[in-house]
Amino acid sequence: MSEDAPSLFASLYAQICSVSAMVLRRFRRSKVVATASLTCAFVLICIFSLRMEHPSTVGATKARAVVEVVTDSAPKVIPVTPNKKKSSRTAKPQPSLSRVVITESFRKAIPQNSAFWNRKQHALLKQLDSAGILLGNDTAGQSPCSALSLELLKTNIQDFSSYPPLYQDFLQGMDCRDPPILIDQPEKCSLRDGARWQPFLLLAIKSIPRNFERRQAVRDTWGREASYEGGLQVRTVFLLGTSSPGDPNLGELLRFEAQHFGDLLQWDFRDSFYNLTLKENAFLGWASNRCPHAAFIFKGDDDVFMNPKAMIQYLRSLDPVKASKLYMGQVVAQATPFRDSKSKYYVPHTFYDGPYPTYAGGGGFVFSGSLLRPLHLLSHHIASFPIDDVYTGMCFQALGIAPEGHPGFQTFDIRELDRENACAHKGLFLVHQRTPQQVIQLWKHMHSPLLTC
Ligand SMILES: *[C@@H]1O[C@H](CO)[C@@H](O)[C@H](O)[C@H]1NC(C)=O
Ligand SMILES: *[C@@H]1O[C@H](CO)[C@@H](O)[C@H](O)[C@H]1NC(C)=O
Repeated sequence: MSEDAPSLFASLYAQICSVSAMVLRRFRRSKVVATASLTCAFVLICIFSLRMEHPSTVGATKARAVVEVVTDSAPKVIPVTPNKKKSSRTAKPQPSLSRVVITESFRKAIPQNSAFWNRKQHALLKQLDSAGILLGNDTAGQSPCSALSLELLKTNIQDFSSYPPLYQDFLQGMDCRDPPILIDQPEKCSLRDGARWQPFLLLAIKSIPRNFERRQAVRDTWGREASYEGGLQVRTVFLLGTSSPGDPNLGELLRFEAQHFGDLLQWDFRDSFYNLTLKENAFLGWASNRCPHAAFIFKGDDDVFMNPKAMIQYLRSLDPVKASKLYMGQVVAQATPFRDSKSKYYVPHTFYDGPYPTYAGGGGFVFSGSLLRPLHLLSHHIASFPIDDVYTGMCFQALGIAPEGHPGFQTFDIRELDRENACAHKGLFLVHQRTPQQVIQLWKHMHSPLLTC
């Protein structure tokens, strides 16, 4: 469905008018019949065009019950034009007003105390409530990044100076949401062979610029863009930030890689652990714009082994209601922040004080594509958190969706004994973690005709 649909209907209508006029001229006596058929055709066209403008994808209605998207123009599919340059320009998101409803369970889960994040989040909720029904700015890529000043942070967090330097960096940038995109794949989910086309499963793999070898192992194995089970399409993107200052400049290599394989997305922010939430937000913005009709999204690390066949078999067996609000992985429940300042997952008391929501481990999880847009809109009202999978869990909780576990996800890996056993992997969806060599070996064995399980 392209933008010129209205003109298509207009010309159709005009043609019917002229035919009717002809009929009218020829059979003056059957004026009534002609007028009736003209009216009838008009009504039919109206109904048809309305249906086309509001494609009812599985689950769209479900998601709308929680996050109501009130746009000033009818929601429409991004126009796809064969002209690459043009399409990347027209794909800029249209500013729209949206109604965001955040669940009570999320509000209640965040204790009101003196920790910085808690205060910030409650202020955001208040802002959302006081703005009445219309709020939320779906303007990805347009809002400038406003860094929090050191003075503000030191005033609000008494022990800010004792935070680890990277943590201080994170806090200064925590209000930045829509980093500029450096490498895009505008056609990833658009027309193929002239037909409207959408992937069944979009693989979004968190990588970092220097991990060439891991990306290649993924491309050659489980992340290969292929068609499964009679036509279910899998498409792959790797999510990248930029190298840190002082690192070798890999820009030229990445540009080559992107051109050659067509699967890199890169945004202009420093790729680091605490910036993974920024990566998540950038991806949600990208995918709800470029790939809004993917049935499912898998998001995971570049050092996992994934079994697309088993996962697709499972996903396609789901009933439509379940499929429309899926958030599935290895569930982490009743977790609380790590208070050890040497841990990668360290969260200072004065930054966040409260439990974590139940969430799916970030090594790899899958969710429904119909949730992309609601999640993206809602994420603008959830303060950034330094641990990306906890943040994702918060967003889903705010949306009213709890993660569901499945034994196929083994983000903490399976028993040592089975790690090289191809048969033990047949029914699994994901194991963490594997070297590129192990990934290739396992893939080869799993697909060998000699394998008998
Ligand atoms: C949306 O963003 C624009 C520009 O950033 C701003 O001028 C406008 O007031 C915002 N609208 C709402 C409803 O927040
Ligand atoms: C995240 O990226 C921004 C933009 O490049 C950078 O200024 C900031 O230092 C990064 N934060 C961390 C914790 O690396």
